[in-house]
Amino acid sequence: MDAQREVWSARSVFILAAIGSAVGLGNIWRFPYVAYTNGGGAFIIPYLVALLTAGIPLLFFDYAIGHKFRASPPLAFRRISRWAEGLGWWQVGICFVIAVYYAVIIAWAARYAIFSIGEAWGDDPEGFLFGTFLQQEDSARVGFDLVPGVAITLLLIWIATLVVLAFGVQRGIGSSARIFVPLLVVLFLALVVRALFLDGAVEGLNAFFQPDWSILTNPTVWIAAYGQIFFSLSIAFGIMITYASYLRLKTNMTSSGLVVAFSNSSFEILAGIGVFAALGYMAAAAAVPIDEVVGGGIGLAFIAFPQIISAMPGGSIFGAVFFTCLVFAGFTSLISIVQVVIAAVEDKLGMSRLAAVAIVGGSMTVISMALFPTTTGVGVLDVVDKFVNNLGIVGVALVAIVSVIWFLRQGPAFVEHLNAVSSFRLGIVWRICIGVATPVVLAYMLVSEMITLVQDGYEGYPASFVLGLGWAVQGLLIVVAIVLSLTPWRQGTDLAAPDAT
Ligand code: PHE
Ligand code: NA
Repeated sequence: MDAQREVWSARSVFILAAIGSAVGLGNIWRFPYVAYTNGGGAFIIPYLVALLTAGIPLLFFDYAIGHKFRASPPLAFRRISRWAEGLGWWQVGICFVIAVYYAVIIAWAARYAIFSIGEAWGDDPEGFLFGTFLQQEDSARVGFDLVPGVAITLLLIWIATLVVLAFGVQRGIGSSARIFVPLLVVLFLALVVRALFLDGAVEGLNAFFQPDWSILTNPTVWIAAYGQIFFSLSIAFGIMITYASYLRLKTNMTSSGLVVAFSNSSFEILAGIGVFAALGYMAAAAAVPIDEVVGGGIGLAFIAFPQIISAMPGGSIFGAVFFTCLVFAGFTSLISIVQVVIAAVEDKLGMSRLAAVAIVGGSMTVISMALFPTTTGVGVLDVVDKFVNNLGIVGVALVAIVSVIWFLRQGPAFVEHLNAVSSFRLGIVWRICIGVATPVVLAYMLVSEMITLVQDGYEGYPASFVLGLGWAVQGLLIVVAIVLSLTPWRQGTDLAAPDAT
């Protein structure tokens, strides 16, 4: 075993870092919208079922691989079987792609934290966002005309990320999680409490929690619940494998996983409450029904929130804190995705951490800077994001489970490994969830999503644009993964599974 492998100084540091990775933009701007449009209060049922039957079992699956095989995803899968290495590279590729655009959204949020102070958007937040700030062209194409205000902020985000990663697992990632996660919780709680005292907050919450039980028979609602859980827990694309590989051998794995999963969900529900209290205020102030002010994603954070901020007494401070929360939540997630790629390069090439940070970080920064802070960047981001989330993540999770559990029959060994160190013990329920329920749901999601994308395209973008940035990029990731898995390991790499605990 690699004697110099980095370690977390304590299990609590790992838990904080894992929470920092899980709690991200998805909790704040994705969950409230998904829950509201999929049954409101009734969504809690499919959501909990998805969490318990797929989210937590997959989290344990990732932990088992990372902790038992103690390596980045390519080397961990290689230690399971020489045929499985490509799975690890596929995950690394997905992380690479997500990182290059995720950083841009953090850059926008950082600028908006400052814009909030002077309410820079005036009375036209939408025109300000796409015109004044992002300077978007109408055409969907890949262009390289930089928008300086966005580009400079993005560069600063990349520098901050790479500085943290250069300090390593414990001193960099661990220390930043210890600072940013508690800070995020405190700031976000303050926002939620403030929002609850706004006029109209109660109507907002009523709209959010209003249960529509009839949705329980609707498959798309169940798919939405599983999709939210996979995205939100950041499972099955290498992050949790990488973070778990830095834990000491004797670590209570499963109870750590439960803490991470329930913290993430609690944060999500908290965000739903805060966001809908604020939307309720806006609906009341503008005298429009709630469903006309609800939106998800970019529109919620960068259009609806500016409107709320402008309308509200003391809105500037509320806004600055809200966007600071987005930055903190996003930053700890970005760190975790980039670390997957760094760890893989370190393992494969036997490189020092600093060299890997320089090479990986440098290439990510260049690609991220070239494609996204541009006058055409939003369309590119939109398509890449859609495909990596709906096809890439789902596809790699499905293939990983089928390979590792069905073909390589690792289930019993994983149960044995986790039970040897953990207090919450796994057994037949976990085996059924991971071996049957999860792959069935993933396969259904993947196929139905592919059919929809083939039939309807995406958001009216030109077919060639969707083909190039969507299908081709996801296909290329698989090809590159296969090629990388055929290249030799550095001399002396220990390709055998480490000794059992
Ligand atoms: N889990 C994160 C969220 O809820 C999203 C994320 C995506 C994190 C990719 C890391 C990597 O926002
Ligand atoms: Na999350």
